[in-house]
Amino acid sequence: MKNTSQMHELSQRLVVLFTTEKKIISNRKHFPSSILLPLLILATHYLIIPSNSEKCHPDDKKVLLQIKIQLGNPTNLSSWDPTTDCNRTWYGVGCDTDTQTYRVNYLSLDFVNLPQPVPIPPSITDLHFLTFLFIYRTPNLVGPIPTSISKLTKLLYLTISNTSVNGNIPNTLSQIKTLLTIDFTNNKLTGPLPDTLSSLPNFGGISFDGNQLTGPIPESYGSFSNSFTVLSLSRNQLSGKIPASLAKLNLTYVNLSQNMLEGDGSVFFGSKKQTTEIVLAKNLFAFDIGKVELANDLKQLDLKRNKIYGTLPEGLSELKFLHYFNVSYNNLCGQIPQGTNLRRFDEYCYAHNKCLCGSPLPACKT
Ligand SMILES: *[C@@H]1O[C@H](CO)[C@@H](O)[C@H](O)[C@H]1NC(C)=O
Ligand SMILES: *[C@@H]1O[C@H](CO)[C@@H](O)[C@H](O)[C@H]1NC(C)=O
Ligand SMILES: *[C@@H]1O[C@H](CO)[C@@H](O)[C@H](O)[C@H]1NC(C)=O
Ligand SMILES: *[C@@H]1O[C@H](CO)[C@@H](O)[C@H](O)[C@H]1NC(C)=O
Ligand SMILES: *[C@@H]1O[C@H](CO)[C@@H](O)[C@H](O)[C@H]1NC(C)=O
Ligand SMILES: *[C@@H]1O[C@H](CO)[C@@H](O)[C@H](O)[C@H]1NC(C)=O
Repeated sequence: MKNTSQMHELSQRLVVLFTTEKKIISNRKHFPSSILLPLLILATHYLIIPSNSEKCHPDDKKVLLQIKIQLGNPTNLSSWDPTTDCNRTWYGVGCDTDTQTYRVNYLSLDFVNLPQPVPIPPSITDLHFLTFLFIYRTPNLVGPIPTSISKLTKLLYLTISNTSVNGNIPNTLSQIKTLLTIDFTNNKLTGPLPDTLSSLPNFGGISFDGNQLTGPIPESYGSFSNSFTVLSLSRNQLSGKIPASLAKLNLTYVNLSQNMLEGDGSVFFGSKKQTTEIVLAKNLFAFDIGKVELANDLKQLDLKRNKIYGTLPEGLSELKFLHYFNVSYNNLCGQIPQGTNLRRFDEYCYAHNKCLCGSPLPACKT
């Protein structure tokens, strides 16, 4: 099991998925109550059952040994020893002891030091019973995500993060109807966002941050089911207008920072939504901030460095949980709302606008 410090970076991003997965995980024992524990630790609790593990299925063992060869026999996988049982003594491998089929349902390749650059082992897609696939911090992993990944028809959680994997995100992912989350953070992926994902019935969220994805956010992203709560696409090269259809989403977390997106970012706001974080910083958004309705639970509102105009809504001063707020470098104007909840935000949170005035900026001219 991964420790919390190794998971620090992931926790930053995936903590937000916590709410999504709560329903699934909460009936498991050892359910940690801290919101700061990352999803993956929770998912680990859920998916590998620590006691009573028995030998896993011989077909899967064969496939795992094939994967080891395809990875260039890394020293880190020395525990993958054909003479031992492939149950939990093999690094990163877990079997299904619940149904006593002992099929391999869990594979976690974290910090595996590959001797030379290799593609994602093609045999991975032969582990048909995987529910959890986690590949993290393997810079020598290169090449595209195989379209045959759709053969993993039982997959719930898919993570490929901090690798050198490149190419397009395959649209075939939408054939994995069980998928709950996809995390492709910090790779070298290019091309457009896959536009078929909204057909996934229980899908909870995507993290494609830190790639080189281009083009617009698809219109179809407005059609995600109610379970879809996390949209994290920061640090890419996305462009174009935000589709109006996205107003239908009820997200807890949206982070589109550091792209070239334009248009009406107000679609992410709504007083009846469950949104806690809205990060649109460093884009080209242009909309009237005065017309947005603020969700009561808003904790972070980062709109800095856009082209947002209008007057800040009075409702801002009623947000009890707001702890990060920055609207600097926009085209805002008029009186800054006053109130104890807003006192913590200094002049730099409002700086470089068209004509904002009032504390902490100089008083408005009457
Ligand atoms: C499963 O793994 C345990 C160690 O975790 C080992 O002692 C046991 O022999 C393995 N089971 C079988 C059936 O080989
Ligand atoms: C893999 O090997 C490298 C260097 O040999 C080591 O630094 C790293 O901690 C190992 N990773 C794991 C998960 O054992
Ligand atoms: C993951 O990649 C990002 C961006 O390249 C980097 O800043 C971060 O340190 C990496 N994290 C780990 C744990 O390697
Ligand atoms: C949004 O994404 C940026 C860039 O990846 C990151 O630095 C920032 O922490 C994220 N914001 C939140 C609230 O998670
Ligand atoms: C958003 O989801 C929350 C929590 O499920 C629910 O209470 C709220 O009514 C939803 N809002 C909309 C606009 O659907
Ligand atoms: C708000 O954004 C501005 C401009 O990027 C920056 O200088 C300032 O430090 C930010 N304030 C906070 C509290 O992050």
